[in-house]
Amino acid sequence: MSAAPPPRLADLATARRLRAIHDQHDRLALLCAELEAIADDLPRACPQRCRRAADALGTLVPEHHASEIVVLRELLAADRPDLVDRIARQHGEDEGLAGEIGHALEPIVAGGAADAPETLGYMLRCFFTSYRRAMLVEELAIRAAAPAA
Ligand SMILES: [Fe+2]
Repeated sequence: MSAAPPPRLADLATARRLRAIHDQHDRLALLCAELEAIADDLPRACPQRCRRAADALGTLVPEHHASEIVVLRELLAADRPDLVDRIARQHGEDEGLAGEIGHALEPIVAGGAADAPETLGYMLRCFFTSYRRAMLVEELAIRAAAPAA
C-alpha cells in the first residue's frame, strides 16, 4: 500500500481560502436569519438588532464579496468566465440593496420607526431570499471546481 502524496503548499493555501469562504457564508446565513427576524418584527424591530444587521450589511457583505470573487476567478475563470462574471454582477446588485437596507434601518437604529415599514419588509425579504440562493449557487460552483473543498 502506497502512501498518499503530501499535499502541495498551493493546495493547502487554496483549501484555507475556501474554508474562509465557507465560514463567511455561515456568518452571512446568520445575517439572513437576523434580517428575516427584523422583517417579521416590523414595524417594531429591535434597534440593537437593526444596528448589528446594518453594520454587517455595510462591512461583512462587501468584504466577503471582495475575497470570494478573487477565489472564484482563480478557480473558475478559465472554464466558466461567464459564471464568474454573473456572480460578480450579482455581488454588485446585492451590495446596492444592502446599502439601501442599511439606510432604511437608520431611523430604527436611532430609536424611531421605519419610514416605510412595508417597503423595508419587502427589501429585507428580497435580500435574504436572493442571498440564500446566491450562496447555494456559489457553494455548488466551488464544489464543482474544487471537489475536495
Ligand atoms: Fe458568497
